[in-house]
Amino acid sequence: MRTYRFDALTGLDDLHQHEEPVAEPQRGEILLRIQAVSLNYRDIAMPLGRYPSPAKPGLIPTSDAAAEVMEVGEGVTQFRPGDRVIGAFHPRWFGGERPRSFAADSYGSAQDGWLSEYKVVSQEAVVPLPDGLSWEEGSTLPCAAATAWCALAGGTPIRAGQTVLTLGTGGVSIFAVQLAKAVGARVIATTSSADKAERLVALGADEVLNYRELPDWGDAVRELTGGRGVERIVEVGGSSTIGQSLKAVAVDGEVVLVGFLGSEPANIDYFDIQGTYARLRSISVGDRGNLVEAVRAIGESGIRPVIDAVYPFEDAAAAFQHLASGEHVGKVVVRIAAGGS
Ligand SMILES: NC(=O)c1ccc[n+]([C@@H]2O[C@H](COP(=O)([O-])OP(=O)(O)OC[C@H]3O[C@@H](n4cnc5c(N)ncnc54)[C@H](OP(=O)(O)O)[C@@H]3O)[C@@H](O)[C@H]2O)c1
Repeated sequence: MRTYRFDALTGLDDLHQHEEPVAEPQRGEILLRIQAVSLNYRDIAMPLGRYPSPAKPGLIPTSDAAAEVMEVGEGVTQFRPGDRVIGAFHPRWFGGERPRSFAADSYGSAQDGWLSEYKVVSQEAVVPLPDGLSWEEGSTLPCAAATAWCALAGGTPIRAGQTVLTLGTGGVSIFAVQLAKAVGARVIATTSSADKAERLVALGADEVLNYRELPDWGDAVRELTGGRGVERIVEVGGSSTIGQSLKAVAVDGEVVLVGFLGSEPANIDYFDIQGTYARLRSISVGDRGNLVEAVRAIGESGIRPVIDAVYPFEDAAAAFQHLASGEHVGKVVVRIAAGGS
């Protein structure tokens, strides 16, 4: 089978194709033919030296895939050949406390990921993909959709009439816009260009602010809410944006710490936290139950994942370059097998 590996982690050019044997499923395992893989910021952050956790070179990258079950090992009861599945971002976090293996299980940074024609995993490491979603759409769900769902439905779940602030137009943020609108929330979004602002409005964002033209967007968000601030912020910018986010949060609101897209030092006014009683909740995608709920919410609400570009397996390197360009809106996908839906 063909796979890709980041043979080193010194840049995106370290991604190379390899020919490797297909593994046999053992007891409780399933052999998957991978149909589509989607990329997340972490997949470029590792080779670009921007990933805040340890990452091993030499691994197959990516955490998110949709696949067809080809063979099942002894004792597999949950799936049979032909079933459509997606991988869980955390393959052994089934609920409750994070497992001790949390870091060691991490695809692409500690163990092989999914950018490959076939993969053997435990039957517990995947969840069913609903029929109404294509392979490409399914591949976008394990990290970005699950994270957006955890940000909005975790903690105190957001409700109709509340206001959610999203930052930028990447994978997590676009799902956050769609899911927030699906539950009747108002969405204020930031972005870097007029074109992307139009896309956000088309997806349902109620107000869009250009953070390049308006560096003090935190105060502008507060003005848009009559001085109240927003109940929930899906904070993907990290140290570069947290100071402004804290200007925008409502009394008793919640800032969900998700990302690290920016690298400028955090400029935080302590009293923006203490004075608003805001809660900060740091998340890592979510457990298996969170993914199952996110998939159900997307399937039942009719949300279509926003896919910016689909690259063939042979051009996977171009998909990584495209994500790194920051020109995308939503998700970047690599299609692996021929045929399918
Ligand atoms: N903790 C978790 O559970 C978790 C899960 C998933 C992702 N993450 C993290 O969350 C972040 C987003 O991930 P992703 O995969 O959605 O990223 P992505 O698709 O690569 O998003 C990139 C987009 O974000 C915007 N952006 C870039 N730099 C920014 C900055 N300094 N401030 C504000 N916006 C900026 C840009 O959109 P505009 O041009 O529209 O501004 C850019 O196109 C990453 O740091 C990722 O590692 C964390």
